[in-house]
Amino acid sequence: MSNIGSYEDRNKDFDWSLAEKELGYKDGDTINIGWYCSDRICEMGKADKTALIWEGLGGKEKSYTFNEIRLASNTIGAFLRELGIKAEDRVCLFMDKIPELYIGFLGVLKIGAIAQPLFSAFGDESLFVRLDNAKTSAIVTQRKHVAKVRKIIDKMPYLKHVIVVDDDGRKPLREREIAFSLENAVPVESIEIHPTKAESASVLHYTSGTTGQPKGVQHVHYSLISQYLTTKWVLDLQDDDIYWCTADPGWVTGTSYGIIGPWSLGVTQCVKDVGFSAVGWYEFIQKRKVTVWYSAPTAIRSLMKAGDEVVKKHDLSSLRHLASVGEPLNSEAVIWSEKVYGLPFLDTYWQTETGSMMLTNFPGMKVKPGSMGKPFPGITAAVLDAETFEQINEPGKVGLIGFKPGWPAMMRTYWNNEETYKGKFKNGWYLSGDRSSIDNEGYFWFTGRDDDVINTGGHLVSPFEVESALLEHEAVAESAVVAKPDEVNMEVVKAFVTLKPGFEASVDLELKIMNFIRKKLSPLAMPQEIEYVKSLPKTRSGKIMRRLLHAKEWGEEIGDTSTLEDDE
Ligand code: WTA
Repeated sequence: MSNIGSYEDRNKDFDWSLAEKELGYKDGDTINIGWYCSDRICEMGKADKTALIWEGLGGKEKSYTFNEIRLASNTIGAFLRELGIKAEDRVCLFMDKIPELYIGFLGVLKIGAIAQPLFSAFGDESLFVRLDNAKTSAIVTQRKHVAKVRKIIDKMPYLKHVIVVDDDGRKPLREREIAFSLENAVPVESIEIHPTKAESASVLHYTSGTTGQPKGVQHVHYSLISQYLTTKWVLDLQDDDIYWCTADPGWVTGTSYGIIGPWSLGVTQCVKDVGFSAVGWYEFIQKRKVTVWYSAPTAIRSLMKAGDEVVKKHDLSSLRHLASVGEPLNSEAVIWSEKVYGLPFLDTYWQTETGSMMLTNFPGMKVKPGSMGKPFPGITAAVLDAETFEQINEPGKVGLIGFKPGWPAMMRTYWNNEETYKGKFKNGWYLSGDRSSIDNEGYFWFTGRDDDVINTGGHLVSPFEVESALLEHEAVAESAVVAKPDEVNMEVVKAFVTLKPGFEASVDLELKIMNFIRKKLSPLAMPQEIEYVKSLPKTRSGKIMRRLLHAKEWGEEIGDTSTLEDDE
């Protein structure tokens, strides 16, 4: 059972210095996440403990101890340093969920460079805008993804190295490309850890907004303090746990809680680099004897769809604690999981920007299915009036979610975009951009986002990015992109387009456009439906009114249309 004490106890006299003490950190010391997640764990006597159990396609398996993680991250770090990568240079990790991704992440941090993980599913356009924004110096990738880098490399003079971790020598590498094999490299016993401080930049995660290109959320090494403590208290990780975080490190959950959290606690984690299937997941839990499982609502809804019978065919008795993040976790999913697994999925709410969990269902706390829970100790959260940004104290009244700045894992800026960063703060609060109410017991209830960003299966997709990409298709004159309801993913991307003269609306063209977007951006951003229209609703100033299209999709009231352009 949990040994972390009650929510009330943990809130009494709470101070983040508690985590600093446990981690042996004092103000002004060097703090390096790469070192904390490997060297320190070895120094604590866990060198031979398993850190990572990995399963790939075709039943491939690998396992690493903390000492092996330490050595391998040294080896990657030393290799990058040898290439000339310096502190604060951005190094992109563009790989499937293979061990090199997890280990490379620590290696990059050890030399003081900034880790920029990106989903390997990204197409060349999505990749380019993120590398170009960060002026990335090196990209670590796999042979199968090199073609996407080659497509855009001529536009990126700053990208000096393309490191291929699984090159088989069969096809020649090109200029700027270099092979590196963790298996064949001579292990580097020790490297000089860059003396990063609390405020040194660590990770750059890209997230989508409604307007403009994706924003680079910049974190610092001090984020470890929140990530460590939230992992310990909310995920309740203990020494003998086998932890499974299903998230990809291209997404913040996969780094904060798929690398930093568990490894800074010296906990064994397992990774499955194979697509979703209910049977596959249950077999994995059974075989690996997973005890703590951190996942997302879309996966849970997919498991619900697969039914109760398949659950009964597996021995899932190792499970003792389940948590979820990324999208609204509907009450049905919580109730169902309690029924079939004997354990409710506990919801957690946070963002790329917040770096660590903000609203949580603390273990032991009464679970109210459908609620996101209460603020983690040390977090001051409120709902605010959308105009005055004053705190709303009336239970049940919906407002904007605001957090008082000051927790360790908070982003420090948006890369090269300080203005947008500053715009996130109002009246002394950081605004998350979501809406919620608070009930009379202090539980938060999510009601929706305050912008047009589409949350499809936990992945944020910017309508702007998809619209821009659509306009690059030869047939598309204008486009508007909104969320459309979906049973499993909650929301999927739907596009409305007007065609250029000479192009005929057809199913064939729809498929071509979908494929165009899938390749350019990613399968997640690909519209699931394209509706051809004669014109798009616009404001008098010419802005497309996505709100109207959205309302139509969701069968909602259209509301105020006084700024709508007259329909000629
Ligand atoms: C949404 C994810 C409802 C929300 C770690 C937020 C949620 C955005 C929840 C951040 C939840 C996350 N209930 N909505 N428990 N958790 N969200 O940056 O809109 O990819 O602002 O980080 O996901 O998504 P991001």
